[in-house]
Amino acid sequence: MSIMLPFFFLFIFFLLGPTPSSAPHSITISSSTPLRLSSLAWDPIGKQFLVGSSDGPTIYAVSDSGMVQCLLSDISPNNTGASVAAINVDHVRHRLIVAFSNSSYVAAYDLISYRKICALPLPQLDSAPGGVAVDMENGDVFVTSSRRGIVLKVRLDGDGSLISEYDIEDEISDDQGLGGIVHVINDQSPYILVIQTATGEIFKIGSNDGIVNEVSSSDNSNMLVPSGNAMALHNDLSLTVAANRNLLLLKSDVTWSRASVNGNITVKHRDQSIAVATQEGKKAYALIESPYGYRIEEVQWWKFPVFRCVMYILFGGCLVAWLVVLRKVYTNPKDDAAHAGDERSLDLP
Ligand SMILES: *[C@@H]1O[C@H](CO)[C@@H](O)[C@H](O)[C@H]1NC(C)=O
Ligand SMILES: *[C@@H]1O[C@H](CO)[C@@H](O)[C@H](O)[C@H]1NC(C)=O
Ligand SMILES: *[C@@H]1O[C@H](CO)[C@@H](O)[C@H](O)[C@H]1NC(C)=O
Repeated sequence: MSIMLPFFFLFIFFLLGPTPSSAPHSITISSSTPLRLSSLAWDPIGKQFLVGSSDGPTIYAVSDSGMVQCLLSDISPNNTGASVAAINVDHVRHRLIVAFSNSSYVAAYDLISYRKICALPLPQLDSAPGGVAVDMENGDVFVTSSRRGIVLKVRLDGDGSLISEYDIEDEISDDQGLGGIVHVINDQSPYILVIQTATGEIFKIGSNDGIVNEVSSSDNSNMLVPSGNAMALHNDLSLTVAANRNLLLLKSDVTWSRASVNGNITVKHRDQSIAVATQEGKKAYALIESPYGYRIEEVQWWKFPVFRCVMYILFGGCLVAWLVVLRKVYTNPKDDAAHAGDERSLDLP
C-alpha cells in the first residue's frame, strides 16, 4: 500500500499542475465594422472592459467573448472630427471620464445610464489629451497634453471648471508631450505621476502644491523606462507601464522619488501595447494592437513567483516522499519477507 502513496501524490500534482489555466486571459475584439481603438478602462459596475475609439467620439463595451457594443457616441455640432484620446473610471462616484481630442474637451458620464453629467472644453491643452486620471477622494480630474509638458486639473460638476495648470516644460528634456497619468492618494500629500511619451521620464507632481520631481532609477542607471504611452496603478507603490513593444512593472519606495523595473514582458512581433488598465487595482490588462486587430490581454506579473513556485515545491515534496518510502522498502527486506511468510502460512489449510 505504502508504495502506492507516491503515485497518489503524483496524480494530485498532475491534477493541479501546469494546466491551460496558467495561460493569460485574452479577449480578441471582434466587430462587424472596422475599429480603431485608443484607450482601455475596467467598468467595476458592469464588470466589463470599456474601450475608446480613435475614429469617433464613441465608447464601446467589450464582452468576455470579444463582442463590442456601443455605449455612447457623443456627436454634437461642435465636435465633428472628435475622437477619444483617453478614458478612466471614477469608481467612487460611478462615472466614466472621457478625454476627447479635436477639439479637446473632457466629459463625465454616469456609469450606469451613460448620460452626460458635465463637459468642459480644454483649449489650454494646445493639442490632444495624452491621458486622464481621477482623484478618487474628491473627483477632480487630471488631463495631460500630448504636445506640451502641461497637466490640467479640472472639476467636473455643474458647468465644470479649470482648477489649476501644472507647467513642467522646464523639467522635461524633450519638447514633446505627456502620455499616461495616475493619481495617488496619500494622507500627507496626494500626487500624480505622469510619463513623457517619447523619453519615458516619469514625474511626480504634488496635486496640491504643484511641486515637480523626476522619479529616478533605484539602481542609478540613467534610464528607468525608455518610452511610455499609458500607465495603470496596482497600489500606491506599483504600476504597469505600456511602452509600445513592452509592458513594464515599476515598483517604488514609499514616495516615488526612486523606482525600479520589476517586470518586463515583450509583446509579440508586430504587436503594440497601446493602453493598460487594472481591475480594481489588482490584475492588469493591456489593449494590444496587432496587424489582425485588437485584443485585451491579462498582464501576468505574478504567475511565476506564486503559482509555479507552489507547484515546484509540491513536486519536490512528492519526490522526497517517494524516495523515503523506497528507502524504507529496500532497507527492510526482512519485514516484507516476514509478512509474505505470514500470508503464505494463512493460505495453509
Ligand atoms: C458647443 O458650441 C456651443 C455654441 O457654439 C457652445 O455653447 C458649447 O459650449 C459648445 N460645447 C462644447 C462641449 O464645446
Ligand atoms: C481636427 O478637425 C479639423 C476639422 O474639424 C481637421 O481639419 C483637422 O485636421 C483635425 N486635426 C487633427 C489633428 O485631427
Ligand atoms: C525589456 O526587455 C526588452 C527585451 O528583452 C529589452 O530590450 C528592454 O531593454 C527591457 N526594458 C527594460 C526597461 O528593462
